[in-house]
Amino acid sequence: MPHLEISDLITVTDPANGARLPVRRAEVVRRLREAGDPRAARIVAALPADRDGVLDPHAVDRLMIGVHTELQRLSEELRIGERLVHVLRPLFAALRATAGQGGPAEPLRLVDIGSGLGYLVRWLAATRALGPGVELVGVDLDAALVGEADRLARAERLDCRFVHGNAFDLPEAATVYVSTGVLHHFRGPALAEFFRAQAASPALAFCHFDIAATRLAPLGARVFHRARMRHPLGRHDGVASALRAHTDETLLSAAAAPGIRPLLYEPRGLANPFCTTLRPVLGVRPHLEAPLRQAMGRASRRLVGPEQLAGTPR
Ligand SMILES: C[S@@+](CC[C@H](N)C(=O)[O-])C[C@H]1O[C@@H](n2cnc3c(N)ncnc32)[C@H](O)[C@@H]1O
Repeated sequence: MPHLEISDLITVTDPANGARLPVRRAEVVRRLREAGDPRAARIVAALPADRDGVLDPHAVDRLMIGVHTELQRLSEELRIGERLVHVLRPLFAALRATAGQGGPAEPLRLVDIGSGLGYLVRWLAATRALGPGVELVGVDLDAALVGEADRLARAERLDCRFVHGNAFDLPEAATVYVSTGVLHHFRGPALAEFFRAQAASPALAFCHFDIAATRLAPLGARVFHRARMRHPLGRHDGVASALRAHTDETLLSAAAAPGIRPLLYEPRGLANPFCTTLRPVLGVRPHLEAPLRQAMGRASRRLVGPEQLAGTPR
């Protein structure tokens, strides 16, 4: 049975322009029942709908902002910002090191795909962890989440911006694409297409963090989301995402797009299953691998390509 996330089913937007599409409650309930998830079906059946059975978009927006706010608290607790910078700072050092040899000109543009409430982009802006000359942009197909991310950034007077739409339709090219908690939403051919679109763009690298598919991940997610999230939708989707986490092999083979060197940081065999909740798959233009490894120092031993993955213990 496929594991479905309720949030994917109740917020449907046109990927071409981000326009909101109406969602029939009964249809979502039917899909969840057919997927063998009666608990999720009951959560959706309790959501408000109009006389035609279409889910109330304002109620759905409020719910999504509430759940993402809880998700942000979880990111704070798991120190997601620090984990990201541990990898992103050497990556940006490598970009700057190659700047004189036909490398990128400043500003270096970081684009967060599926930025949600913008926690990552706002954290990077607040800490200035990547140094000067980095433009920080969050993009999301969900207008309500983008609106809230923008409001929070303005309240804190942060130097970053949020765009409503498809991250691959931005007028300006990204230097580096990043994301957190997004990869498991792309399944099958859509995952390879996600990486191919970035490899075909002028971007020099990508770095996508998602749940590590360790044996402990579903249990850990259950305990953590039960303790930390109040709304049943957040609890449900938190566990479903851990069950949908891609394996190391799937990520590395999907990320192997033309012109890209795929790398995985902390693959299963090298990770502590009690501490590694999220870890990234990276893609760099081949000339960046050596400077990246140099900037990472000893930590680069935990960065492996497809050829080394076969040799890491399970
Ligand atoms: C689970 S949320 C992750 C939110 C955020 N990154 C976090 O960690 O809290 C996934 C988000 O990805 C967005 N998304 C998926 N594909 C996208 C695309 N091509 N462009 C922009 N946003 C996208 C969805 O709208 C959704 O809000």
